Amino acid sequence: RQHPAEPWRIKMVEPLRVTTRHERQQALKEAGYNISLLRSDDVYIDLYTDSGTNAMSDRQWSAMMVGDEAYAGARSFYRLEAAVRKYYGYEHIIPTHQGRGAENLLSRILIRPGTHIPGNMYFTTTRAHQELNGGTFHDVIIDEAHDPLDEHPFKGNVDLAKLERLIAEVGAANIPYVSVAATVNMAGGQPISMANLTEVRDLAQHHGIAVMLDAARAVENAYFIKQREPGWATHSVADILREMCERTDGAAMSSKKDSYANIGGWLAVRDPQLAEQARNLVVLYEGLHTYGGMAGRDLEAVAAGISESVQEENIAARVNQVAYLGDLLTEADIPLVQPIGGHAVCVDAAAALPHVPREQFPAQTLAAALYLDSGVRAAERGAVSAGRDHSTGQNRYPRLELIRLTIPRRVYTQSHMDVVAESVIQVHKERDRLHTGLDFAHEPETLRFFQARFTPS
Ligand code: F0G
Repeated sequence: RQHPAEPWRIKMVEPLRVTTRHERQQALKEAGYNISLLRSDDVYIDLYTDSGTNAMSDRQWSAMMVGDEAYAGARSFYRLEAAVRKYYGYEHIIPTHQGRGAENLLSRILIRPGTHIPGNMYFTTTRAHQELNGGTFHDVIIDEAHDPLDEHPFKGNVDLAKLERLIAEVGAANIPYVSVAATVNMAGGQPISMANLTEVRDLAQHHGIAVMLDAARAVENAYFIKQREPGWATHSVADILREMCERTDGAAMSSKKDSYANIGGWLAVRDPQLAEQARNLVVLYEGLHTYGGMAGRDLEAVAAGISESVQEENIAARVNQVAYLGDLLTEADIPLVQPIGGHAVCVDAAAALPHVPREQFPAQTLAAALYLDSGVRAAERGAVSAGRDHSTGQNRYPRLELIRLTIPRRVYTQSHMDVVAESVIQVHKERDRLHTGLDFAHEPETLRFFQARFTPS
C-alpha cells in the first residue's frame, strides 16, 4: 500500500462539535481573525500543531498510573533517563516542562552577548531564547529550503559554505554552537541528511564548535533518511536516530512531538560540566533536576512514548498520513511546499493569494478563510510568525509565507484528512473573493503570532 493503514485501533473517542458558518464567523471576529485565539471548542479539525496534541497509547496511560511523584530521585526520572540514553544515546539528561524550557537552559549557559548562532532556519522559540541572551541567529540552511517548489530530498541541509563564511567572519570563538534542527519545522518539516549532518559535525569539530540538535522531530527525520538516503534503507529507524545523535554534542527535546506526550521535554548533553551547569539552572526555572517541571506520571508517559516513537510501523503510518493529505492537495494543484514534510502539509499562501500584499499577511488571511469554510484550523507560518527585525523594527518577510496543516499523531482518521483536503480545495477555488488581507489591531512584542489581533484591511 502506498499509504499504510494505522498499526493501532481506537479504544476511546472524543466527541467534536460541528459548527455552522454563522457561528464560525462570530468566533473568528471574537478572535481578532487570529486562529491562535480561537477556542478549541469552536474548532472541528484542529491542525494548529502536532505539539502535545497526540493521542497516547494504552501503554502510556497505564505507565502514568505508576508514576512516582517523589520530589527528589523519582523512579520515573530514571525510567526517562534510561529511555533517552538507550534511544538517543546521550549521557546526561535534564528534564524540562517542554522544549523551550530546554532551549532556555541551553541558551543561558552557552550564549553570551555578541555571540552568533548559525542554524538550519530559525524556529520561533529557539531564536527568541538565543536573542534574549544577546546572541544573533544566522540562517545557514541551503537555498533550496526557501523555495517551496524545489524537490530537494533534504531541504533541511546546512549550506556548508554559508557556515564556513560565518565562522571566518565572526570567528569560531564567538560561535557557542551550531543549532541543527531535524526535521526543520519552518521549512515545512524537511529533513537533514546523515551525510550533511556528518559534514556539519566535521566542520564544527575542526573549529572546536559544538553541535546541538533540536530533536523534536528527529524520529521523523530518521524515517526520511531511511527512505531517501543511499546506504540507510536497511537500517532500523532506531539505529538511524542513534547515528544522528552520535554526530551531535547534545539536544534540546520537545517530547510533545515525536514522543506522543501531551507535555514534557529534556535537555541532553555529553559534557559533564555542561550537565552540571544545566542541573544548577533547571532548579530555578523548571524544578529539581529529577523532575524538571514534569509530574512523575508525565515522565512515565514520555519514557513509554520514546520507545513507541521508533517502532517502524508507527513512524511509517505517521509520515504517510501526512503524505496522504499532501498527495490529495498536490493532485488538486494546490501550491504546496514540496516534498511533503514529516509533520505537516504547508500551503504556499503567497502563491495561493498573489493579490493580497505581504503587508496584509496572506497566510493569516488564508488560515482565517479556511476556518470559516469548514472549521479546520491551520497555523500561520509566515510574516506574522517571523516578527520584526530587532535593529530596524521592520517586519521580517520570510520567503516562505505558509499555512501549516499540522497533523497530530494518532488523532485523526483518513476521513478527516479527506474533509481537510476538500475544504482547502474549496477555499482555493474561491480565492479571488479574498480581495484583501488583514492589518494588526494589536501587536504583542514577543512571539506576536500567538496573541495578535487583526482587522480586515
Ligand atoms: N523546536 C521545534 C522544532 C519546535 O517545533 C518546537 C515547538 C520547539 C522547539 C519548542 O518546543 O513547544 O515543547 O516548547 N513547536 C510547536 C509547533 C509549538 O507548533 O511547531 P515546545
